[in-house]
Amino acid sequence: MGQGHLVAHAASLEPEARDAFLAAAAAHPWGSLREALEHGATSGAPALRPPKCYTLGRQLNQNEEHNRVERMGQGLLAGGRVATLLLAGGQGTRLGYDGPKGMLEFGPDEGRTLYRIHAERIAASTERYGKPAPLYVLLSAATAATTRAAFDEHGEAWGLRPGQVRFLLQGTLPALDDAGRALIAAPGVLAEAPDGHGGAFQALADAGVLDELVEQGVDILTTFQVDNPLARPLDPVMLGWMVERRLQAIGKAVRKASPDEKVGVFARDLRGRTKVVEYSEVTADDDAADGADGADGAIESPLMLGSIAIHGFSVRFLQGLAREGDALRLHAARKKVTHLAPDGSRVVPEAPNATKLERFIFDLFPLAARAEVQEVKREWEFAPVKNATGIDSLMSSRVLVDAEVRRWHQTRDLPAPETAPALKPREMDGPR
Ligand code: UTP
Repeated sequence: MGQGHLVAHAASLEPEARDAFLAAAAAHPWGSLREALEHGATSGAPALRPPKCYTLGRQLNQNEEHNRVERMGQGLLAGGRVATLLLAGGQGTRLGYDGPKGMLEFGPDEGRTLYRIHAERIAASTERYGKPAPLYVLLSAATAATTRAAFDEHGEAWGLRPGQVRFLLQGTLPALDDAGRALIAAPGVLAEAPDGHGGAFQALADAGVLDELVEQGVDILTTFQVDNPLARPLDPVMLGWMVERRLQAIGKAVRKASPDEKVGVFARDLRGRTKVVEYSEVTADDDAADGADGADGAIESPLMLGSIAIHGFSVRFLQGLAREGDALRLHAARKKVTHLAPDGSRVVPEAPNATKLERFIFDLFPLAARAEVQEVKREWEFAPVKNATGIDSLMSSRVLVDAEVRRWHQTRDLPAPETAPALKPREMDGPR
């Protein structure tokens, strides 16, 4: 597999370290890694068309259809037929926060971390529907210890029931140099990184979670990301649509704020399968495609529906894929990776010098014969924390959450307009 240098490196180690090193190296899928490296970082799917999408208007319309679908979702929640998976294994390099992103103090009050915000939302669903939805948390070596400790210490105070949370550890993949050779981080240690949020699928299968969920009568597993405090993974409307349309997969989307907004976009490939294309993998050809079809989706461009990475999957669909041994494809990204040179000196690169390979959870979509997109309102559901400053930063996310909480107060929690005291505009607009 072109990794002979690892054998040479192993020979320089003490027997115990050598055995551990070779065992760790032998566990990686070298053939697939090479192949992914050779195919580069393109989506390989020209001529994308618009996805099947339920429009916001149709969903938000407080009509009989909407209410019926919502009631179906509520029935699933009350019947304990939904579980959710929080993806929290990322390294959060763009944010540069020292610790798992979920431990970030979001505010406004002390101790309100992203983990707490998500946990409280799940707990609110338990209160409302009377059944605790199992919460799985995907972790990597970088996030595992701190996250487990935080949930152990605070989980109950956040409203989670004993046994409601379970942790999954995702796998790692080696970083490769331009010749496809694995880099060595330290004597006896490969330079590795988490295998991407798509590693969730393998982690679920390996831990036997999918079989367990089927046995418990759980039909739908939703997934969401730690860095979106407005995520609503147990949204009864999304769940109801899945049942209504007999979907194996559903993904929430918002209109992209501008063509160059950095979110993956939903599309349909030539076989008619729904897929998500990463913003870094969209080609000029894709972007030029004319997507007007006026059907269910009624969208002007195929690449304007940005994914907010909240998905629902039929558990039996996932179980079937796991049984067939399906693996999600690998994506390549150029990164800076510190490593040892052959003479043992440490190399700290100033420019990307290596390829990291990752699996993406949304690559489950094209494997589903029945997958659709649910367009939702951006202000209600999407406030990502990706960067240290500027767009999609902690600051911009706080502003969005603040606005959403105001909306809740204005539309739901305040007394009916005829009895409400007149609100002075200043109070509404002032600081929290
Ligand atoms: P991102 O793609 O934004 O990556 O992850 P990240 O690691 O958080 O941040 P950067 O790119 O290094 O700045 C989106 C979501 O997927 C999870 C993250 O925790 C986040 O919730 N994720 C990402 C995983 O669970 N595992 C991974 O290997 C990668």
